[in-house]
Amino acid sequence: MKSAQINRYGSSDVIEINQNTSAASLPTSSGKILVDVKASGVNPVDWKIREGYMQQMTPLQFPATLGMDLSGIIKDVGSGQDISTSDLKQGDEVYGQASVTKGGSGAFAEVAVTNADNIALKPKNLSFEEAAALPLVGVSAWQALVENMNLSQGQKILIHGGAGGIGSVAIQFAKKLGAFVATTVNSDDADYVQSLGADETIDYKKQDFEKMVNDYDAVYDTVGGQTYTKSFNVLKKGGIIVSMLEQPNTDLMQHFGVKAIFLLTQVNRERLTQLAKWVDQNNIKINIDKTFSLDETAEALDYVKDVHPRGKVVLEINS
Ligand SMILES: NC(=O)c1ccc[n+]([C@@H]2O[C@H](COP(=O)([O-])OP(=O)(O)OC[C@H]3O[C@@H](n4cnc5c(N)ncnc54)[C@H](OP(=O)(O)O)[C@@H]3O)[C@@H](O)[C@H]2O)c1
Repeated sequence: MKSAQINRYGSSDVIEINQNTSAASLPTSSGKILVDVKASGVNPVDWKIREGYMQQMTPLQFPATLGMDLSGIIKDVGSGQDISTSDLKQGDEVYGQASVTKGGSGAFAEVAVTNADNIALKPKNLSFEEAAALPLVGVSAWQALVENMNLSQGQKILIHGGAGGIGSVAIQFAKKLGAFVATTVNSDDADYVQSLGADETIDYKKQDFEKMVNDYDAVYDTVGGQTYTKSFNVLKKGGIIVSMLEQPNTDLMQHFGVKAIFLLTQVNRERLTQLAKWVDQNNIKINIDKTFSLDETAEALDYVKDVHPRGKVVLEINS
């Protein structure tokens, strides 16, 4: 069984394509599921894990198989499964996560072990490649816009990084929820985010977004740094900023009278199931910028890190 592994932290040269990884064996303990992987979505967190940025929080045991997001077909369900896995069976088409940082065996592999609570039936309208691109970005946008902001008809939201993986689904979610959407992108991406439904685009390289929009109900920050701190100026009193990167700045919260949240994405069966239904019902599109093979994992991670995709990058595995 082939997998993309590392034996130490570092840049792309530490990635080894191991042709003979011992076939992921299904633990007898309940709560684990074996998946024939069809495709794996690539996220910025994958190169961050490779480079050791997460090692204090979740140290890896080497060799470690990279990769978080996947789609595929259930190969086997462990014996003695508890109620949480009873509705999944061999042959089901699923999507979700198998990161080694969360008790899985790694998604950049031909076969992966996942926690039963980290996968669900895939959206019917999406291909395996599109479904593999969805778990982390889709659940992030779901938690932010639906669970934390409770975004509703007629509200105004500013989404930073609208052409990125999270931003491109967040724009579509916000429009389906009835909000007015402004988004920051580089000028090359303006047409793309308009095609996703954005009402106003702001070129983050040439324009000061904090001078262009104000009195907004919500800001979704997928960029961090100064983009985060400047965003408080955009919100109306009682507004909310959700950041994927920054811890709440209590001084700014008090000064502007707004709520600030750092969002740690937590992918679970319930969210994946709600997300799949929402994506199917609302005809959400997943833009796959580029696909790579499993052998090209190093190039795929470099592309995500250095080039920045318009939408998502996916590894095609058993497709
Ligand atoms: N907290 C969590 O649990 C969690 C979960 C998921 C993701 N994240 C983090 O969230 C971030 C976004 O994830 P992603 O998958 O959406 O990444 P991505 O696909 O790389 O998208 C990031 C986007 O931000 C744009 N951008 C860069 N600088 C900008 C600026 N100053 N103003 C506006 N846009 C800018 C990039 O455009 P260019 O092409 O112009 O550079 C790119 O389109 C990553 O750092 C990721 O690690 C955190």
